[in-house]
Amino acid sequence: MKIKHIFPLILSGSFALNVSAQNNAPKAFQFAEHQTRLLLTETAKTKTTAAKPNLLSPRTLNTKGDLLIVSPKDWCSGFFAGNLWFLYEYTGNKFWKEQSEPFTTVMEAEKTDGGTHDMGFKLYNSVGNAYRLTHEQKYKDDIIQAAKTLITRFNPTIGCIKSWDHRKEWKFPVIIDNMMNLELLFEATKLSGDSSFYKVAVAHANTTLKNHFRPDNSSYHVIDYDPETGKVLHKQTHQGFADSSAWARGQAWGLYGYTMCYRETGNKAYLREAEKIAKYIFSNPQMPADLVPYWDYDAAKLGNQPRDASAASIAASALYELSTYSKNAKIYKKTADKILNSLANNYQPQPDSARGFLLLHSTGHKPANSEIDVPIIYADYYYLEALLRQKRLADKKPVINAAGHLKN
Ligand code: GLY
Repeated sequence: MKIKHIFPLILSGSFALNVSAQNNAPKAFQFAEHQTRLLLTETAKTKTTAAKPNLLSPRTLNTKGDLLIVSPKDWCSGFFAGNLWFLYEYTGNKFWKEQSEPFTTVMEAEKTDGGTHDMGFKLYNSVGNAYRLTHEQKYKDDIIQAAKTLITRFNPTIGCIKSWDHRKEWKFPVIIDNMMNLELLFEATKLSGDSSFYKVAVAHANTTLKNHFRPDNSSYHVIDYDPETGKVLHKQTHQGFADSSAWARGQAWGLYGYTMCYRETGNKAYLREAEKIAKYIFSNPQMPADLVPYWDYDAAKLGNQPRDASAASIAASALYELSTYSKNAKIYKKTADKILNSLANNYQPQPDSARGFLLLHSTGHKPANSEIDVPIIYADYYYLEALLRQKRLADKKPVINAAGHLKN
């Protein structure tokens, strides 16, 4: 396939890609260290109360600009620890390891919470990064226990892990986001030798491949299954504009999820799916010139919609990895570089503002009127991950740093 046929949109006119061996990391990490010191201070200032015990991790800013801190139960509670580990990974500075540890320790107890499918977001991004960089036994044990807990949500008749428990409109909802939790399962099999985690991950990825995608390669947000028969009952949305629309972050979760599943299994069907999702996203006529999408590709047709920088940072990180597997390597790498340029040049706040977050302009849940055009911690997480991946490619190292063992 010729490059010009892959993403015609970004190769035309002002989208021309002429960046080579780009490395945004030095400047962006300098900024990230500065901002994160502020976010640590702001987080420490936020007191827990009897009504809100055990507040831990910065999540976002409210409309008044106040910092919102969440407890380890929240799906966003593991990202800040991950950001601190990424700063340690990039700088090698022991200060960041020391900052990461308390935010990671408090996540460890979540490994037995079977009431959530967000185990990967919570445990793998915090404890998983801790294990990757320190190889401490306790983190390894946590990952295996977290995987044991997560697979209690698997229904073999359906072939999926259940997403939410308490939404009466659905019997067995599975959201595209859930693809992100599979990385924890693959890792747990490697660490324990127990293939049951791997088998659940593969079944979930296969069922999602069969039922979540539309002929144009966009995905539904929620598929509701009958837990007795495995039949699909509903194809809907929760955070998107409409059941039939393409919610921007959902497309990014799918891209990242199938790229990671290809890495872990070598199954070419996953690689093809990731390529198809990339084509959907980056050939989309609603994609803005700077490659930071509006929150939903169909809502974008209405005009005047907020962006979702988190969808851009997730996609950039995924594309760096996908570039190492695909015949479309060059265009994927250049597209990810372009996204990082946009984020670094136009989405970072002024230093010392935004209470220490790294990126502005994400959208969490537009239909609920929640977290619109704000900084959100997971946008920062995937931004840092993408920057690390870009640097590893520039240094001619494998894009996934599985080795760890930082000594400082
Ligand atoms: N459920 C994760 C998200 O909002 O993308």
